[in-house]
Amino acid sequence: MIKKVGILTCGGDCPGLNAVIRGAVKVALYNDVEVYGFLEGYKGLLEDRKIKLEQPNIDGIIFRGGTILKSNNGTNTFAVPEINDKGERIFVDYSEEIAKRLKEQGFDCLIVIGGDGSLKSARDYMLRGVNVVGVPKTIDNDVPYTDVTFGFNTAVEVATEAVDRLHTTGDSHGRIMVLEVMGRYAGWVALSAGLAGGADTILIPEIPYDINKVVEKIAYRRAHNKNHSVIVVAEGAKPKEGTISIREIEGDKAENKGLDSVKLGGAGAFVSSEVERITGFEARVTNLGYLQRGGSPCPYDRILSTEFGAMAMQLCVEEKFGRMVTLLNGKLQSISLNEVAGSDTTIGAKSSNLKLVDLGGDLIQTARKVGICLGD
Ligand code: F6P
Repeated sequence: MIKKVGILTCGGDCPGLNAVIRGAVKVALYNDVEVYGFLEGYKGLLEDRKIKLEQPNIDGIIFRGGTILKSNNGTNTFAVPEINDKGERIFVDYSEEIAKRLKEQGFDCLIVIGGDGSLKSARDYMLRGVNVVGVPKTIDNDVPYTDVTFGFNTAVEVATEAVDRLHTTGDSHGRIMVLEVMGRYAGWVALSAGLAGGADTILIPEIPYDINKVVEKIAYRRAHNKNHSVIVVAEGAKPKEGTISIREIEGDKAENKGLDSVKLGGAGAFVSSEVERITGFEARVTNLGYLQRGGSPCPYDRILSTEFGAMAMQLCVEEKFGRMVTLLNGKLQSISLNEVAGSDTTIGAKSSNLKLVDLGGDLIQTARKVGICLGD
Protein backbone atom coordinates (compact mmCIF):
# COMPACT_ATOMS: atom_id res chain seq x y z
CA MET A 1 0.00 0.00 0.00
CA ILE A 2 1.45 3.36 -0.98
CA LYS A 3 1.37 6.17 1.58
CA LYS A 4 2.91 9.30 0.18
CA VAL A 5 2.91 10.91 -3.27
CA GLY A 6 4.56 14.09 -4.57
CA ILE A 7 3.07 16.18 -7.33
CA LEU A 8 4.52 18.98 -9.43
CA THR A 9 3.42 21.25 -12.27
CA CYS A 10 6.22 21.95 -14.74
CA GLY A 11 6.91 24.19 -17.72
CA GLY A 12 4.62 26.89 -19.07
CA ASP A 13 1.32 27.02 -17.23
CA CYS A 14 -1.86 25.89 -18.89
CA PRO A 15 -5.60 25.98 -18.12
CA GLY A 16 -6.61 22.85 -16.23
CA LEU A 17 -3.53 22.40 -14.03
CA ASN A 18 -5.53 23.06 -10.88
CA ALA A 19 -8.26 20.67 -11.98
CA VAL A 20 -5.62 17.93 -12.41
CA ILE A 21 -4.22 18.63 -8.94
CA ARG A 22 -7.75 18.57 -7.50
CA GLY A 23 -8.61 15.25 -9.19
CA ALA A 24 -5.39 13.65 -7.95
CA VAL A 25 -5.74 14.93 -4.37
CA LYS A 26 -9.35 13.78 -4.13
CA VAL A 27 -8.40 10.22 -5.10
CA ALA A 28 -5.49 10.36 -2.64
CA LEU A 29 -7.74 11.48 0.20
CA TYR A 30 -10.18 8.63 -0.47
CA ASN A 31 -7.27 6.19 -0.33
CA ASP A 32 -5.52 7.61 2.74
CA VAL A 33 -2.52 8.68 0.72
CA GLU A 34 -0.63 11.83 1.77
CA VAL A 35 0.07 14.28 -1.04
CA TYR A 36 2.77 16.95 -1.15
CA GLY A 37 2.96 19.53 -3.89
CA PHE A 38 6.46 20.64 -4.85
CA LEU A 39 6.47 24.36 -5.61
CA GLU A 40 7.54 25.81 -8.98
CA GLY A 41 7.98 22.45 -10.70
CA TYR A 42 11.43 20.92 -10.83
CA LYS A 43 12.86 24.01 -9.08
CA GLY A 44 10.94 23.16 -5.92
CA LEU A 45 11.94 19.53 -6.27
CA LEU A 46 15.58 20.60 -6.42
CA GLU A 47 15.25 22.93 -3.44
CA ASP A 48 12.90 20.61 -1.52
CA ARG A 49 10.17 23.23 -1.21
CA LYS A 50 6.80 21.63 -0.83
CA ILE A 51 3.40 21.96 0.81
CA LYS A 52 1.03 19.34 2.07
CA LEU A 53 -2.11 19.20 -0.05
CA GLU A 54 -5.36 18.64 1.79
CA GLN A 55 -9.03 19.30 1.15
CA PRO A 56 -8.87 23.08 1.85
CA ASN A 57 -6.08 23.46 -0.73
CA ILE A 58 -8.27 22.10 -3.48
CA ASP A 59 -11.56 23.74 -2.54
CA GLY A 60 -12.91 25.79 -5.44
CA ILE A 61 -9.94 25.42 -7.74
CA ILE A 62 -11.48 23.41 -10.60
CA PHE A 63 -12.21 26.57 -12.58
CA ARG A 64 -9.09 28.53 -11.62
CA GLY A 65 -6.41 29.20 -14.23
CA GLY A 66 -2.70 28.94 -13.48
CA THR A 67 -1.45 26.50 -10.87
CA ILE A 68 -1.69 26.67 -7.08
CA LEU A 69 1.73 24.98 -7.05
CA LYS A 70 3.31 27.59 -9.36
CA SER A 71 5.47 26.54 -12.26
CA ASN A 72 8.88 27.12 -13.75
CA ASN A 73 10.47 26.29 -17.07
CA GLY A 74 14.03 27.27 -16.28
CA THR A 75 15.30 24.38 -14.16
CA ASN A 76 16.82 21.17 -15.42
CA THR A 77 17.77 19.19 -12.33
CA PHE A 78 20.01 17.01 -14.49
CA ALA A 79 22.20 19.99 -15.44
CA VAL A 80 22.09 22.88 -12.99
CA PRO A 81 24.49 25.69 -13.93
CA GLU A 82 26.96 26.64 -11.20
CA ILE A 83 30.30 28.38 -10.92
CA ASN A 84 33.13 26.19 -9.61
CA ASP A 85 36.14 27.17 -7.45
CA LYS A 86 38.08 28.18 -10.54
CA GLY A 87 35.31 30.56 -11.59
CA GLU A 88 34.26 28.28 -14.45
CA ARG A 89 30.65 27.59 -15.37
CA ILE A 90 29.82 23.94 -14.81
CA PHE A 91 26.66 21.84 -14.88
CA VAL A 92 25.80 19.70 -11.88
CA ASP A 93 23.46 16.71 -12.05
CA TYR A 94 21.36 16.73 -8.86
CA SER A 95 19.00 13.95 -9.91
CA GLU A 96 20.63 11.17 -7.88
CA GLU A 97 20.67 13.33 -4.77
CA ILE A 98 17.00 14.21 -5.31
CA ALA A 99 16.07 10.56 -5.94
CA LYS A 100 17.81 9.58 -2.68
CA ARG A 101 16.08 12.35 -0.75
CA LEU A 102 12.66 11.37 -2.10
CA LYS A 103 13.26 7.81 -0.94
CA GLU A 104 14.42 8.96 2.50
CA GLN A 105 11.35 11.17 2.87
CA GLY A 106 9.15 8.20 2.10
CA PHE A 107 7.73 9.25 -1.24
CA ASP A 108 6.26 6.27 -3.04
CA CYS A 109 5.70 8.09 -6.30
CA LEU A 110 5.99 11.43 -8.06
CA ILE A 111 3.25 12.71 -10.36
CA VAL A 112 4.77 15.02 -12.98
CA ILE A 113 2.33 17.25 -14.85
CA GLY A 114 4.21 18.63 -17.82
CA GLY A 115 4.88 18.87 -21.53
CA ASP A 116 7.31 16.83 -23.63
CA GLY A 117 10.48 18.10 -21.92
CA SER A 118 9.15 17.66 -18.38
CA LEU A 119 7.84 14.18 -19.19
CA LYS A 120 11.24 13.24 -20.57
CA SER A 121 12.77 14.36 -17.26
CA ALA A 122 10.11 12.33 -15.44
CA ARG A 123 11.17 9.24 -17.39
CA ASP A 124 14.80 10.01 -16.54
CA TYR A 125 13.88 10.06 -12.83
CA MET A 126 12.38 6.65 -13.42
CA LEU A 127 15.81 5.56 -14.68
CA ARG A 128 17.18 6.90 -11.39
CA GLY A 129 14.85 4.54 -9.52
CA VAL A 130 12.03 6.97 -8.68
CA ASN A 131 8.47 5.79 -9.27
CA VAL A 132 6.77 8.32 -11.53
CA VAL A 133 3.45 8.88 -13.27
CA GLY A 134 3.13 11.55 -15.98
CA VAL A 135 0.23 13.76 -17.01
CA PRO A 136 0.43 15.40 -20.47
CA LYS A 137 0.00 19.16 -20.24
CA THR A 138 0.32 21.91 -22.82
CA ILE A 139 -1.84 24.22 -24.85
CA ASP A 140 0.35 23.25 -27.82
CA ASN A 141 -1.09 19.69 -27.98
CA ASP A 142 2.29 18.39 -29.14
CA VAL A 143 2.77 15.50 -26.68
CA PRO A 144 2.81 12.15 -28.51
CA TYR A 145 0.60 9.17 -27.65
CA THR A 146 -2.37 11.19 -26.52
CA ASP A 147 -5.24 12.41 -28.69
CA VAL A 148 -5.17 15.67 -26.82
CA THR A 149 -3.45 17.44 -23.94
CA PHE A 150 -5.48 19.35 -21.38
CA GLY A 151 -5.39 23.12 -21.93
CA PHE A 152 -5.42 22.79 -25.70
CA ASN A 153 -9.18 23.14 -26.11
CA THR A 154 -9.24 26.25 -23.93
CA ALA A 155 -6.47 27.83 -26.01
CA VAL A 156 -8.39 26.99 -29.19
CA GLU A 157 -11.50 28.59 -27.72
CA VAL A 158 -9.64 31.82 -26.94
CA ALA A 159 -7.95 31.86 -30.34
CA THR A 160 -11.25 31.16 -32.12
CA GLU A 161 -12.88 34.10 -30.42
CA ALA A 162 -9.98 36.24 -31.61
CA VAL A 163 -10.48 35.03 -35.20
CA ASP A 164 -14.20 35.83 -34.96
CA ARG A 165 -13.45 39.34 -33.75
CA LEU A 166 -10.82 39.95 -36.40
CA HIS A 167 -13.33 38.99 -39.10
CA THR A 168 -15.73 41.78 -38.13
CA THR A 169 -13.20 44.57 -37.74
CA GLY A 170 -11.31 43.37 -40.83
CA ASP A 171 -14.51 43.36 -42.82
CA SER A 172 -15.40 46.92 -41.74
CA HIS A 173 -12.08 48.26 -42.98
CA GLY A 174 -11.32 45.88 -45.83
CA ARG A 175 -8.05 44.93 -44.18
CA ILE A 176 -5.85 41.85 -44.03
CA MET A 177 -5.96 40.72 -40.40
CA VAL A 178 -3.14 38.48 -39.23
CA LEU A 179 -3.36 36.57 -35.96
CA GLU A 180 -0.27 34.95 -34.45
CA VAL A 181 -1.02 32.08 -32.09
CA MET A 182 1.14 29.83 -29.91
CA GLY A 183 2.05 26.21 -30.50
CA ARG A 184 5.83 26.19 -30.75
CA TYR A 185 6.88 23.77 -33.51
CA ALA A 186 3.37 22.34 -33.97
CA GLY A 187 0.41 23.93 -35.71
CA TRP A 188 -2.47 22.42 -33.71
CA VAL A 189 -3.74 25.67 -32.17
CA ALA A 190 -3.49 27.59 -35.45
CA LEU A 191 -5.15 24.88 -37.51
CA SER A 192 -7.98 24.25 -35.06
CA ALA A 193 -8.76 27.89 -34.31
CA GLY A 194 -8.42 28.76 -38.00
CA LEU A 195 -10.90 26.06 -38.96
CA ALA A 196 -13.30 26.96 -36.16
CA GLY A 197 -13.16 30.66 -36.95
CA GLY A 198 -13.38 30.29 -40.72
CA ALA A 199 -9.95 31.78 -41.43
CA ASP A 200 -9.01 32.23 -45.08
CA THR A 201 -5.39 31.22 -44.65
CA ILE A 202 -3.67 29.16 -41.96
CA LEU A 203 0.10 28.90 -41.80
CA ILE A 204 1.60 26.14 -39.66
CA PRO A 205 5.17 25.00 -38.98
CA GLU A 206 4.52 21.64 -40.66
CA ILE A 207 3.94 23.33 -44.04
CA PRO A 208 6.60 25.92 -44.92
CA TYR A 209 4.68 28.57 -46.82
CA ASP A 210 5.06 30.45 -50.08
CA ILE A 211 3.98 34.05 -49.47
CA ASN A 212 2.80 34.27 -53.10
CA LYS A 213 0.15 31.62 -52.35
CA VAL A 214 -1.07 33.75 -49.45
CA VAL A 215 -1.22 36.77 -51.72
CA GLU A 216 -3.09 34.77 -54.40
CA LYS A 217 -5.75 33.88 -51.84
CA ILE A 218 -6.18 37.55 -50.89
CA ALA A 219 -6.43 38.51 -54.58
CA TYR A 220 -9.00 35.77 -55.21
CA ARG A 221 -11.17 37.00 -52.35
CA ARG A 222 -10.97 40.59 -53.51
CA ALA A 223 -11.95 39.48 -57.00
CA HIS A 224 -15.07 38.03 -55.36
CA ASN A 225 -15.90 41.23 -53.47
CA LYS A 226 -14.39 40.12 -50.19
CA ASN A 227 -11.95 42.83 -49.32
CA HIS A 228 -10.89 41.49 -45.99
CA SER A 229 -8.96 38.33 -45.16
CA VAL A 230 -8.07 36.64 -41.90
CA ILE A 231 -4.76 34.81 -41.74
CA VAL A 232 -3.90 32.66 -38.72
CA VAL A 233 -0.17 32.19 -38.30
CA ALA A 234 1.35 29.69 -35.88
CA GLU A 235 4.32 31.16 -34.05
CA GLY A 236 6.50 28.40 -35.51
CA ALA A 237 5.43 28.97 -39.14
CA LYS A 238 8.21 29.73 -41.57
CA PRO A 239 8.50 30.68 -45.24
CA LYS A 240 9.77 28.06 -47.68
CA GLU A 241 12.96 29.93 -48.29
CA GLY A 242 13.31 31.41 -44.82
CA THR A 243 13.71 30.61 -41.18
CA ILE A 244 11.58 30.42 -38.09
CA SER A 245 10.92 33.76 -36.28
CA ILE A 246 12.77 33.96 -32.99
CA ARG A 247 11.93 36.64 -30.42
CA GLU A 248 14.93 35.91 -28.23
CA ILE A 249 17.22 33.20 -27.04
CA GLU A 250 17.33 33.20 -23.26
CA GLY A 251 20.95 33.18 -22.16
CA ASP A 252 23.22 31.27 -24.46
CA LYS A 253 21.41 28.36 -26.09
CA ALA A 254 24.37 26.04 -25.55
CA GLU A 255 24.55 27.15 -21.94
CA ASN A 256 21.00 26.14 -21.10
CA LYS A 257 21.47 22.42 -21.18
CA GLY A 258 18.32 20.43 -21.74
CA LEU A 259 16.09 23.52 -21.58
CA ASP A 260 14.24 25.11 -24.42
CA SER A 261 15.67 28.60 -24.37
CA VAL A 262 14.41 29.62 -27.83
CA LYS A 263 11.48 32.02 -27.53
CA LEU A 264 9.44 32.19 -30.71
CA GLY A 265 7.69 35.33 -31.90
CA GLY A 266 7.32 37.60 -34.90
CA ALA A 267 5.99 35.12 -37.48
CA GLY A 268 2.68 37.02 -37.72
CA ALA A 269 4.35 40.42 -38.00
CA PHE A 270 6.53 39.06 -40.80
CA VAL A 271 3.55 37.72 -42.76
CA SER A 272 1.65 40.96 -42.24
CA SER A 273 4.49 43.17 -43.50
CA GLU A 274 5.19 40.89 -46.46
CA VAL A 275 1.54 40.87 -47.49
CA GLU A 276 1.34 44.65 -47.20
CA ARG A 277 4.57 45.09 -49.15
CA ILE A 278 3.48 42.82 -52.00
CA THR A 279 -0.20 43.78 -52.28
CA GLY A 280 -0.21 47.37 -51.08
CA PHE A 281 -3.34 46.54 -49.02
CA GLU A 282 -3.53 47.53 -45.39
CA ALA A 283 -2.60 44.69 -43.02
CA ARG A 284 -2.74 44.53 -39.24
CA VAL A 285 -1.22 41.99 -36.91
CA THR A 286 -2.41 40.75 -33.51
CA ASN A 287 -0.30 38.52 -31.32
CA LEU A 288 -2.61 36.64 -28.99
CA GLY A 289 0.24 35.57 -26.72
CA TYR A 290 -0.40 34.59 -23.14
CA LEU A 291 -4.15 35.17 -23.31
CA GLN A 292 -4.20 31.63 -24.71
CA ARG A 293 -2.60 30.26 -21.56
CA GLY A 294 -4.13 32.33 -18.80
CA GLY A 295 -7.55 32.09 -17.24
CA SER A 296 -10.20 29.53 -16.63
CA PRO A 297 -10.24 26.14 -18.41
CA CYS A 298 -13.21 25.42 -20.66
CA PRO A 299 -15.61 22.64 -19.53
CA TYR A 300 -13.91 20.08 -21.80
CA ASP A 301 -10.54 20.78 -20.19
CA ARG A 302 -12.01 20.72 -16.68
CA ILE A 303 -13.38 17.26 -17.34
CA LEU A 304 -10.24 15.98 -19.07
CA SER A 305 -8.02 17.41 -16.33
CA THR A 306 -10.15 15.83 -13.62
CA GLU A 307 -9.98 12.49 -15.44
CA PHE A 308 -6.21 12.78 -15.91
CA GLY A 309 -5.58 13.81 -12.29
CA ALA A 310 -7.82 11.12 -10.84
CA MET A 311 -6.33 8.45 -13.07
CA ALA A 312 -2.75 9.52 -12.29
CA MET A 313 -3.37 9.05 -8.56
CA GLN A 314 -5.25 5.80 -9.21
CA LEU A 315 -2.18 4.48 -11.06
CA CYS A 316 -0.08 5.38 -8.00
CA VAL A 317 -2.53 3.63 -5.67
CA GLU A 318 -2.41 0.54 -7.88
CA GLU A 319 1.38 0.83 -8.03
CA LYS A 320 1.36 1.05 -11.82
CA PHE A 321 4.36 3.31 -12.16
CA GLY A 322 6.29 4.56 -15.18
CA ARG A 323 3.08 5.40 -17.03
CA MET A 324 1.59 8.53 -18.57
CA VAL A 325 -2.17 8.99 -18.43
CA THR A 326 -3.62 9.55 -21.86
CA LEU A 327 -6.76 9.84 -23.90
CA LEU A 328 -5.89 7.53 -26.75
CA ASN A 329 -8.37 6.75 -29.53
CA GLY A 330 -11.00 8.38 -27.37
CA LYS A 331 -10.33 6.12 -24.39
CA LEU A 332 -8.87 7.13 -21.03
CA GLN A 333 -5.90 4.86 -20.41
CA SER A 334 -2.19 4.89 -19.67
CA ILE A 335 0.94 4.29 -21.71
CA SER A 336 4.57 3.65 -20.85
CA LEU A 337 6.52 6.85 -20.22
CA ASN A 338 9.39 5.26 -22.11
CA GLU A 339 7.38 5.31 -25.27
CA VAL A 340 6.35 8.92 -24.76
CA ALA A 341 9.84 10.16 -23.95
CA GLY A 342 11.36 8.55 -27.02
CA SER A 343 14.33 6.38 -27.67
CA ASP A 344 17.01 8.77 -26.41
CA THR A 345 17.71 7.38 -22.97
CA THR A 346 20.59 9.74 -22.27
CA ILE A 347 19.62 11.07 -18.87
CA GLY A 348 18.87 14.77 -19.06
CA ALA A 349 18.86 14.98 -22.88
CA LYS A 350 16.19 17.22 -24.39
CA SER A 351 13.06 15.55 -25.72
CA SER A 352 12.51 15.68 -29.43
CA ASN A 353 9.54 13.37 -29.59
CA LEU A 354 6.87 15.88 -30.63
CA LYS A 355 3.43 15.19 -32.04
CA LEU A 356 3.14 17.33 -35.15
CA VAL A 357 0.08 17.94 -37.29
CA ASP A 358 -0.53 14.97 -39.57
CA LEU A 359 -0.41 16.34 -43.09
CA GLY A 360 -2.58 13.48 -44.34
CA GLY A 361 -5.02 13.80 -41.43
CA ASP A 362 -8.65 14.88 -41.35
CA LEU A 363 -8.04 18.46 -40.20
CA ILE A 364 -5.68 19.26 -43.05
CA GLN A 365 -7.88 17.45 -45.59
CA THR A 366 -10.94 19.36 -44.42
CA ALA A 367 -9.11 22.68 -44.49
CA ARG A 368 -8.12 22.05 -48.09
CA LYS A 369 -11.62 20.88 -49.06
CA VAL A 370 -13.20 24.10 -47.81
CA GLY A 371 -10.68 26.17 -49.70
CA ILE A 372 -8.48 27.37 -46.85
CA CYS A 373 -5.05 28.39 -48.10
CA LEU A 374 -2.28 26.56 -46.23
CA GLY A 375 0.48 28.47 -47.93
CA ASP A 376 1.52 25.64 -50.28
O1 F6P B 1 4.35 25.50 -24.44
C1 F6P B 1 3.38 26.45 -24.29
C2 F6P B 1 3.85 27.77 -24.78
O2 F6P B 1 2.81 28.57 -24.45
C3 F6P B 1 4.25 27.87 -26.24
O3 F6P B 1 3.18 27.83 -27.11
C4 F6P B 1 5.04 29.16 -26.26
O4 F6P B 1 5.94 29.22 -27.32
C5 F6P B 1 5.76 29.05 -24.98
O5 F6P B 1 4.97 28.27 -24.11
C6 F6P B 1 6.10 30.36 -24.34
O6 F6P B 1 6.51 30.10 -23.04
P1 F6P B 1 7.33 31.02 -22.06
O7 F6P B 1 7.33 32.41 -22.60
O8 F6P B 1 6.63 30.88 -20.76
O9 F6P B 1 8.68 30.43 -22.03
